[in-house]
Amino acid sequence: MRFTDILIIGAGAAGLMCAFSAAQRGRSVMLIDHANKPGKKILMSGGGRCNFTNMYTEPSNFLSQNPHFCKSALARYTQWDFIELVGKHAVAYHEKKLGQLFCDNKSSDILGLLLSECEQAKVDLRMDTSVQTIAKVEGGYCLQTSAGPITCQSLVIATGGLSIPTLGATGFGYEVARQFGHQVLPTRAGLVPFTITDQLKALCTELSGTSVDCVASCNGQSFRENLLFTHRGLSGPAILQVSSFWQPGEAIEINLLPEHDAATWLREQQAERPNSELKTLLGEVFTKKMANLLAEQWFESRPMKQYTPAQLDELAERLAHWRLVPAGTEGYRTAEVTLGGVDTREVSSKTLESLKSPGLYFIGEVLDVSGHLGGFNFQWAWASGYAAAQFA
Ligand code: FDA
Repeated sequence: MRFTDILIIGAGAAGLMCAFSAAQRGRSVMLIDHANKPGKKILMSGGGRCNFTNMYTEPSNFLSQNPHFCKSALARYTQWDFIELVGKHAVAYHEKKLGQLFCDNKSSDILGLLLSECEQAKVDLRMDTSVQTIAKVEGGYCLQTSAGPITCQSLVIATGGLSIPTLGATGFGYEVARQFGHQVLPTRAGLVPFTITDQLKALCTELSGTSVDCVASCNGQSFRENLLFTHRGLSGPAILQVSSFWQPGEAIEINLLPEHDAATWLREQQAERPNSELKTLLGEVFTKKMANLLAEQWFESRPMKQYTPAQLDELAERLAHWRLVPAGTEGYRTAEVTLGGVDTREVSSKTLESLKSPGLYFIGEVLDVSGHLGGFNFQWAWASGYAAAQFA
């Protein structure tokens, strides 16, 4: 029988941060994971460059049924703390846009720094280790694992959400939560592309690979970012952002002319260039292919002088308030996060300890806290991992 002060299950972003932060306090820490390598999502993230935090992180960047929950941990370990850690390891980075910090080189720079901190702090990291059973015992927990029985004072669940099962994602954390009397709020894929199956599918397929600046809106939330047409529907940052607020059957709205007031712009163009064709004008805002397709499929392209004021208003409405109902999302196969999860109303926001079972902690994505796109999800993993490490 092995004994450790703290046993952390899940060597992802939150688990690694929690492990070395607790070990630096002098606690003995064992970190186990069923995968063959730690931090696989970190390696995949940010297109291989890991968007590791966001300079403008605020509690309002997170979705949760309990919106105040994330505040305490985010305040205790901020984006500036992680940026300092990145600086300590001389990892080169840059702001891509909107406060999003990416590695100049590779995501492995971030994983490397976390593993180096774990090694220095003497974290006992064991991969290829799965958990069979967990029992509450006097003064802690006893686990049967593929590496034999392990007893610990504090047990930290850092097994993440359901997105990308091929990277090791499981519902294990939710099962543990239920075992110890916690509510698990319904989960669904977030930050995920939409699929389109109606008559718009042909347009999406034709324009596959085309990106356009837009404002995408859903359920009162709007994001100014790029939209990307794909052969199966819509993706790109603006779409991923609104996907987290979308419920099946609902419409989303897209403003394809975010730089202009569409009606005013069309009237000005009509006055200034009455003989120009609509598709020529649209070709100055969109790619030529997109302008031609919109002009063919949505409007009959004519010289601007031939449109009546009512028709111009209709054009403006279509361009600025394009409403469409996605068929669905690409699901956990490609989602960046899982919405929902362990109900935070039964977890201490200060310590991340279960209010149902002392000595049990939940950190990272397994909790019902999901960030917007842009480095916020990693910041939650760092902050919640650090907070639990101060108390576990
Ligand atoms: P995470 O999923 O990182 O780790 C969970 C660990 O638990 C895994 O190692 C897994 O193997 C292990 N595990 C699961 N079940 C287990 C079991 N039964 N037994 C033992 N171990 C088990 N965020 C961001 O801020 N910036 C970005 O650039 C990106 N990019 C990005 C790209 C892609 C493709 C994805 C899928 C996601 C992102 N994200 C992101 C989101 C981010 O990766 C995510 O929010 C964090 O990794 C969550 O950290 P956790 O440690 O909670 O879970």
